[in-house]
Amino acid sequence: MRKSIQKIQNYKKEGKKITVLTAYDYSTAKYIDQAGVDMILVGDSLAQVALGLENTTDVGMEEMLIFTRAVSRGVENALLIADMPFMSFQIDKANTMKNACEFIKAGANAVKLEGSSDFIIENIKHLTSNGIPVVGHLGFTPMTINSLGGHKIQGKDAERTMDILKDALKLQSAGCFAIVLEMVPLQSGQFISQRLRIPTIGIGGGRFCDGQVLVSDDLLGKYDRYKPKFARQYSSLKDIIFNVAKAYCTDVESGVFPNVNESFMLELEEIEKLENYK
Ligand code: KIV
Repeated sequence: MRKSIQKIQNYKKEGKKITVLTAYDYSTAKYIDQAGVDMILVGDSLAQVALGLENTTDVGMEEMLIFTRAVSRGVENALLIADMPFMSFQIDKANTMKNACEFIKAGANAVKLEGSSDFIIENIKHLTSNGIPVVGHLGFTPMTINSLGGHKIQGKDAERTMDILKDALKLQSAGCFAIVLEMVPLQSGQFISQRLRIPTIGIGGGRFCDGQVLVSDDLLGKYDRYKPKFARQYSSLKDIIFNVAKAYCTDVESGVFPNVNESFMLELEEIEKLENYK
Protein backbone atom coordinates (compact mmCIF):
# COMPACT_ATOMS: atom_id res chain seq x y z
CA MET A 1 0.00 0.00 0.00
CA ARG A 2 1.25 3.50 -0.81
CA LYS A 3 2.28 5.88 1.97
CA SER A 4 -0.34 8.36 3.10
CA ILE A 5 0.06 12.12 3.31
CA GLN A 6 -0.46 11.87 7.09
CA LYS A 7 2.46 9.45 7.32
CA ILE A 8 4.71 11.80 5.32
CA GLN A 9 3.69 14.74 7.52
CA ASN A 10 4.33 12.73 10.69
CA TYR A 11 7.91 12.16 9.53
CA LYS A 12 8.52 15.89 10.06
CA LYS A 13 7.17 15.70 13.62
CA GLU A 14 9.27 12.59 14.29
CA GLY A 15 12.40 14.19 12.81
CA LYS A 16 12.66 11.46 10.17
CA LYS A 17 14.04 12.79 6.89
CA ILE A 18 11.79 12.35 3.86
CA THR A 19 13.29 10.79 0.72
CA VAL A 20 12.02 11.73 -2.73
CA LEU A 21 13.28 10.85 -6.22
CA THR A 22 11.93 11.48 -9.67
CA ALA A 23 11.03 8.65 -12.04
CA TYR A 24 9.78 8.65 -15.60
CA ASP A 25 9.43 4.98 -16.53
CA TYR A 26 7.98 1.76 -15.10
CA SER A 27 11.16 -0.17 -14.26
CA THR A 28 13.11 2.73 -12.70
CA ALA A 29 10.03 3.56 -10.62
CA LYS A 30 9.75 -0.07 -9.52
CA TYR A 31 13.34 -0.32 -8.22
CA ILE A 32 13.32 3.13 -6.61
CA ASP A 33 10.08 2.14 -4.91
CA GLN A 34 11.51 -1.20 -3.74
CA ALA A 35 14.53 0.67 -2.33
CA GLY A 36 12.15 2.40 0.06
CA VAL A 37 11.92 5.99 -1.21
CA ASP A 38 9.03 7.77 0.56
CA MET A 39 7.69 9.72 -2.42
CA ILE A 40 8.24 9.47 -6.18
CA LEU A 41 7.81 12.49 -8.41
CA VAL A 42 7.04 12.36 -12.10
CA GLY A 43 8.80 15.69 -12.60
CA ASP A 44 8.42 17.91 -15.60
CA SER A 45 12.23 17.61 -15.69
CA LEU A 46 11.34 14.69 -17.93
CA ALA A 47 11.28 17.34 -20.68
CA GLN A 48 15.09 17.46 -20.52
CA VAL A 49 16.16 14.10 -19.14
CA ALA A 50 13.69 11.78 -20.86
CA LEU A 51 12.69 13.72 -23.98
CA GLY A 52 15.87 15.70 -24.71
CA LEU A 53 13.99 19.02 -24.83
CA GLU A 54 15.46 22.38 -23.79
CA ASN A 55 13.10 23.50 -20.99
CA THR A 56 10.45 22.12 -18.67
CA THR A 57 7.99 24.47 -20.36
CA ASP A 58 8.30 22.32 -23.51
CA VAL A 59 6.36 19.43 -22.00
CA GLY A 60 2.55 19.25 -21.85
CA MET A 61 -0.31 17.32 -20.29
CA GLU A 62 -0.30 14.59 -22.90
CA GLU A 63 3.32 13.54 -22.28
CA MET A 64 3.09 13.96 -18.51
CA LEU A 65 0.08 11.65 -18.39
CA ILE A 66 1.79 8.92 -20.42
CA PHE A 67 4.81 8.96 -18.07
CA THR A 68 2.65 9.18 -14.94
CA ARG A 69 0.70 6.06 -15.98
CA ALA A 70 3.94 4.17 -16.66
CA VAL A 71 5.50 5.15 -13.32
CA SER A 72 2.29 4.44 -11.43
CA ARG A 73 2.35 0.82 -12.64
CA GLY A 74 5.75 0.40 -10.94
CA VAL A 75 4.93 2.07 -7.61
CA GLU A 76 3.52 0.06 -4.71
CA ASN A 77 4.79 1.74 -1.56
CA ALA A 78 5.75 5.34 -2.24
CA LEU A 79 3.36 8.26 -2.49
CA LEU A 80 3.24 9.27 -6.14
CA ILE A 81 3.29 12.95 -7.11
CA ALA A 82 2.82 14.24 -10.65
CA ASP A 83 4.15 17.64 -11.73
CA MET A 84 1.50 19.81 -13.31
CA PRO A 85 3.17 21.10 -16.50
CA PHE A 86 3.31 24.64 -17.83
CA MET A 87 -0.12 25.93 -18.97
CA SER A 88 -1.99 23.24 -17.04
CA PHE A 89 -2.68 25.42 -13.98
CA GLN A 90 -2.24 28.95 -15.36
CA ILE A 91 -5.55 29.27 -17.25
CA ASP A 92 -8.37 29.14 -14.73
CA LYS A 93 -9.68 27.15 -11.79
CA ALA A 94 -11.84 24.78 -13.82
CA ASN A 95 -9.00 23.93 -16.17
CA THR A 96 -6.59 23.44 -13.24
CA MET A 97 -9.08 21.11 -11.56
CA LYS A 98 -9.68 19.11 -14.74
CA ASN A 99 -5.95 18.65 -15.33
CA ALA A 100 -5.25 17.71 -11.70
CA CYS A 101 -8.03 15.10 -11.88
CA GLU A 102 -6.41 13.63 -15.01
CA PHE A 103 -3.26 12.99 -12.96
CA ILE A 104 -5.20 11.34 -10.16
CA LYS A 105 -6.91 9.15 -12.77
CA ALA A 106 -3.47 8.31 -14.19
CA GLY A 107 -2.40 6.93 -10.79
CA ALA A 108 -0.88 9.92 -8.96
CA ASN A 109 -1.76 10.49 -5.31
CA ALA A 110 -0.95 14.21 -5.45
CA VAL A 111 0.08 16.97 -7.83
CA LYS A 112 2.85 19.56 -7.61
CA LEU A 113 2.47 23.17 -8.76
CA GLU A 114 5.14 25.83 -9.04
CA GLY A 115 4.72 29.37 -7.75
CA SER A 116 2.79 31.44 -5.24
CA SER A 117 1.11 34.35 -7.06
CA ASP A 118 -2.40 35.22 -5.85
CA PHE A 119 -3.80 33.52 -8.94
CA ILE A 120 -1.89 30.29 -8.26
CA ILE A 121 -2.79 30.35 -4.57
CA GLU A 122 -6.46 30.56 -5.54
CA ASN A 123 -6.06 27.59 -7.89
CA ILE A 124 -4.28 25.59 -5.19
CA LYS A 125 -7.09 26.39 -2.72
CA HIS A 126 -9.59 25.21 -5.28
CA LEU A 127 -7.75 21.88 -5.61
CA THR A 128 -7.12 21.23 -1.92
CA SER A 129 -10.66 22.17 -0.89
CA ASN A 130 -11.92 19.66 -3.44
CA GLY A 131 -9.79 16.79 -2.20
CA ILE A 132 -6.74 17.00 -4.46
CA PRO A 133 -3.50 16.84 -2.43
CA VAL A 134 -1.00 19.49 -3.53
CA VAL A 135 2.76 19.97 -3.11
CA GLY A 136 4.00 23.55 -3.63
CA HIS A 137 7.32 24.52 -5.23
CA LEU A 138 9.25 27.68 -4.27
CA GLY A 139 12.76 29.12 -4.59
CA PHE A 140 14.06 28.49 -8.08
CA THR A 141 11.05 27.58 -10.19
CA PRO A 142 12.18 26.19 -13.58
CA MET A 143 8.97 27.26 -15.38
CA THR A 144 9.80 30.92 -14.74
CA ILE A 145 13.47 30.59 -15.71
CA ASN A 146 13.01 33.46 -18.18
CA SER A 147 11.92 35.97 -15.56
CA LEU A 148 14.44 34.64 -13.03
CA GLY A 149 17.22 35.18 -15.58
CA GLY A 150 18.65 31.62 -15.54
CA HIS A 151 19.54 28.95 -12.97
CA LYS A 152 19.97 31.41 -10.09
CA ILE A 153 20.03 30.85 -6.33
CA GLN A 154 16.94 32.33 -4.68
CA GLY A 155 16.57 33.83 -1.18
CA LYS A 156 20.15 35.10 -1.27
CA ASP A 157 19.72 37.54 1.62
CA ALA A 158 17.60 37.87 4.76
CA GLU A 159 14.92 39.96 3.06
CA ARG A 160 14.51 37.57 0.14
CA THR A 161 14.49 34.59 2.49
CA MET A 162 11.65 36.29 4.38
CA ASP A 163 9.79 36.71 1.07
CA ILE A 164 10.07 32.97 0.39
CA LEU A 165 8.90 32.21 3.93
CA LYS A 166 5.84 34.47 3.42
CA ASP A 167 5.05 32.62 0.19
CA ALA A 168 5.55 29.27 1.89
CA LEU A 169 3.13 30.26 4.65
CA LYS A 170 0.58 31.21 1.98
CA LEU A 171 0.99 27.79 0.35
CA GLN A 172 0.60 26.12 3.73
CA SER A 173 -2.63 28.07 4.39
CA ALA A 174 -3.86 27.16 0.90
CA GLY A 175 -3.65 23.51 1.96
CA CYS A 176 -0.35 22.28 0.45
CA PHE A 177 0.86 19.24 2.36
CA ALA A 178 4.56 19.78 1.52
CA ILE A 179 6.72 22.33 -0.31
CA VAL A 180 9.70 21.76 -2.59
CA LEU A 181 12.41 24.37 -1.92
CA GLU A 182 14.78 24.62 -4.85
CA MET A 183 18.18 26.34 -4.85
CA VAL A 184 18.11 28.38 -1.67
CA PRO A 185 21.02 28.81 0.78
CA LEU A 186 21.29 26.18 3.53
CA GLN A 187 20.46 28.76 6.25
CA SER A 188 17.39 29.97 4.33
CA GLY A 189 16.23 26.36 3.94
CA GLN A 190 16.66 25.87 7.68
CA PHE A 191 14.91 29.16 8.60
CA ILE A 192 11.92 28.38 6.39
CA SER A 193 11.65 24.70 7.39
CA GLN A 194 11.63 25.56 11.11
CA ARG A 195 8.72 27.97 10.62
CA LEU A 196 6.42 25.68 8.69
CA ARG A 197 4.08 23.00 10.01
CA ILE A 198 4.32 21.09 6.71
CA PRO A 199 7.53 19.43 5.47
CA THR A 200 9.96 21.12 3.10
CA ILE A 201 11.62 18.97 0.46
CA GLY A 202 14.93 20.51 -0.57
CA ILE A 203 16.68 20.32 -3.92
CA GLY A 204 19.73 22.50 -3.46
CA GLY A 205 18.06 23.71 -0.26
CA GLY A 206 20.59 22.35 2.23
CA ARG A 207 20.48 19.57 4.79
CA PHE A 208 18.05 21.22 7.20
CA CYS A 209 15.07 20.76 4.91
CA ASP A 210 12.70 18.06 6.15
CA GLY A 211 13.42 15.92 3.11
CA GLN A 212 15.44 15.84 -0.09
CA VAL A 213 14.52 15.33 -3.73
CA LEU A 214 16.84 14.69 -6.67
CA VAL A 215 16.32 14.04 -10.35
CA SER A 216 17.06 10.30 -10.64
CA ASP A 217 19.08 10.79 -13.83
CA ASP A 218 21.46 13.10 -11.91
CA LEU A 219 21.80 10.55 -9.10
CA LEU A 220 22.41 7.73 -11.56
CA GLY A 221 24.79 9.72 -13.76
CA LYS A 222 22.69 9.31 -16.86
CA TYR A 223 22.11 12.91 -17.96
CA ASP A 224 25.18 14.99 -18.77
CA ARG A 225 23.93 18.16 -20.44
CA TYR A 226 23.75 20.00 -17.14
CA LYS A 227 25.23 19.04 -13.76
CA PRO A 228 23.75 21.01 -10.86
CA LYS A 229 26.10 21.77 -7.93
CA PHE A 230 23.58 20.31 -5.48
CA ALA A 231 23.19 16.91 -7.20
CA ARG A 232 25.23 14.00 -5.87
CA GLN A 233 26.07 11.42 -8.52
CA TYR A 234 26.08 7.89 -7.08
CA SER A 235 26.76 6.02 -10.29
CA SER A 236 27.75 6.59 -13.87
CA LEU A 237 24.97 4.88 -15.75
CA LYS A 238 25.99 6.83 -18.83
CA ASP A 239 29.35 4.97 -18.87
CA ILE A 240 27.68 1.67 -18.06
CA ILE A 241 25.26 2.10 -20.99
CA PHE A 242 28.09 3.18 -23.31
CA ASN A 243 30.38 0.27 -22.33
CA VAL A 244 27.58 -2.32 -22.50
CA ALA A 245 26.47 -1.12 -25.95
CA LYS A 246 30.09 -1.20 -27.16
CA ALA A 247 30.62 -4.75 -25.82
CA TYR A 248 27.40 -5.84 -27.50
CA CYS A 249 28.52 -4.41 -30.87
CA THR A 250 31.90 -6.16 -30.54
CA ASP A 251 30.21 -9.50 -29.73
CA VAL A 252 27.74 -9.26 -32.62
CA GLU A 253 30.43 -8.17 -35.10
CA SER A 254 32.81 -10.96 -34.03
CA GLY A 255 30.04 -13.59 -34.06
CA VAL A 256 30.35 -14.33 -30.33
CA PHE A 257 26.73 -13.31 -29.76
CA PRO A 258 24.39 -15.13 -29.83
CA ASN A 259 25.92 -18.41 -28.63
CA VAL A 260 24.22 -21.83 -28.58
CA ASN A 261 22.60 -21.24 -25.18
CA GLU A 262 21.07 -18.06 -26.48
CA SER A 263 19.57 -19.82 -29.55
CA PHE A 264 16.54 -22.04 -30.17
CA MET A 265 17.41 -25.52 -31.51
CA LEU A 266 15.62 -27.84 -33.91
CA GLU A 267 15.29 -31.53 -32.97
CA LEU A 268 18.00 -33.74 -34.55
CA GLU A 269 15.60 -35.43 -36.96
CA GLU A 270 14.35 -32.06 -38.19
CA ILE A 271 17.94 -31.00 -38.83
CA GLU A 272 18.45 -34.19 -40.87
CA LYS A 273 15.30 -33.45 -42.88
CA LEU A 274 16.60 -29.97 -43.62
CA GLU A 275 19.91 -31.45 -44.74
CA ASN A 276 18.01 -33.74 -47.17
CA TYR A 277 16.51 -30.66 -48.83
CA LYS A 278 19.98 -29.62 -49.96
O1 KIV B 1 10.64 18.41 -12.34
C1 KIV B 1 11.33 18.04 -11.39
O2 KIV B 1 12.10 17.08 -11.46
C2 KIV B 1 11.20 18.80 -10.14
C3 KIV B 1 12.21 18.50 -9.09
C4 KIV B 1 13.48 19.09 -9.46
C5 KIV B 1 11.75 18.91 -7.76
O3 KIV B 1 10.37 19.62 -10.02
